[in-house]
Amino acid sequence: MSKILIIGAGGQIGTELVLELRKMKGNDTVIAADLSDECPVLIKNGPYVQMDVLDREFVRDYIISQQIDEVYLLAALLSATAEKHPDFAWKLNMEGLFSVLDLAKEKHIKKIFWPSSIAVFGATTPKVNTPQKTVMEPSTVYGISKQSGEGWCSYYFDNYGVDVRSIRYPGLISYKSLPGGGTTDYSVDIFYQAKLKSQYSCFLKEDTLLPMMFMEDAIRATIELMEAPSEKVKVRTSYNLAGISFTPAQIAQKIKLHLPDFEMSYTPDFRQKIADTWPGSIDDSQATKDWGWKERYTLESLVEVMLENVDVSLLDKDV
Ligand code: NAD
Ligand code: SER
Repeated sequence: MSKILIIGAGGQIGTELVLELRKMKGNDTVIAADLSDECPVLIKNGPYVQMDVLDREFVRDYIISQQIDEVYLLAALLSATAEKHPDFAWKLNMEGLFSVLDLAKEKHIKKIFWPSSIAVFGATTPKVNTPQKTVMEPSTVYGISKQSGEGWCSYYFDNYGVDVRSIRYPGLISYKSLPGGGTTDYSVDIFYQAKLKSQYSCFLKEDTLLPMMFMEDAIRATIELMEAPSEKVKVRTSYNLAGISFTPAQIAQKIKLHLPDFEMSYTPDFRQKIADTWPGSIDDSQATKDWGWKERYTLESLVEVMLENVDVSLLDKDV
């Protein structure tokens, strides 16, 4: 059984990925790693190691000594936080990637998953059904780091045979852990505030159409891509992936069907400028063709599951 290391395991994606991979492959084979000295409560059912991905020597020694086969590298600063700390965002988002790519180049790692984002696209990209291959002129440090990372993944595959796989995730919506500083975070915050106060002040304008996805679909996509035979993985930059596209007004309207008193107001902030450069919808036909991707959640089913499961006490908890 392959030994798997998930770096950035305590975050929005990591928490759910760890739980799902442990369910499939056994608790002991999936090692969670993050900055905190304490293992996050939700992933206490298996091994945990405190790790700073920027500590190249530690990462190297750990991966070699523990004979890790696969690495999922999730540690990063997301779009909104990255705009506040551009130098550090560039450092974190790129250096961790090089550490694992180099270990794979030296044959210490067999397979890598590294996520990209819709942030690789920019204002000059076609907004509707954005193609897999198109103009990419990102305007955020986050988008620039993801676009560069994609280029390096493809370079390491072409020149050193590194089996690195990637998805351009849309905005991800989940209830098990909170999002970590992205432009799409409103689509999660809204459920907490709807349940808590029946009102939400949205930091994006009501008609801002963005591609989104429920976490269960995103985790399934990630694992399907990682389990696909190597020859089926034709894109070695990163795959477009689509779920559901909606605006703040559209999701508010669906929530209102369950909570009729819910009211939404709009106070756009600096994140609006970021969102304005991103696509409204994504063409993911290449992922469907190559490894059979198909989303399952609709806006209606997502809203239902979120309202049922969002636990407002999570807002005060360290998970
Ligand atoms: P998150 O912010 O929720 O989690 C990131 C985790 O990385 C955190 O637990 C954090 O403590 C950890 N981390 C930060 N610095 C670290 C370091 N130096 N060493 C080790 N761990 C460190 O992020 P997420 O939403 O889970 O995203 C994970 C990845 O997926 C990122 O690369 C992100 O760009 C990408 N992505 C996420 C979304 C989304 O909507 N969540 C969309 C597109 C792409
Ligand atoms: N959800 C992410 C963000 O808003 C997209 O990469 O940063």
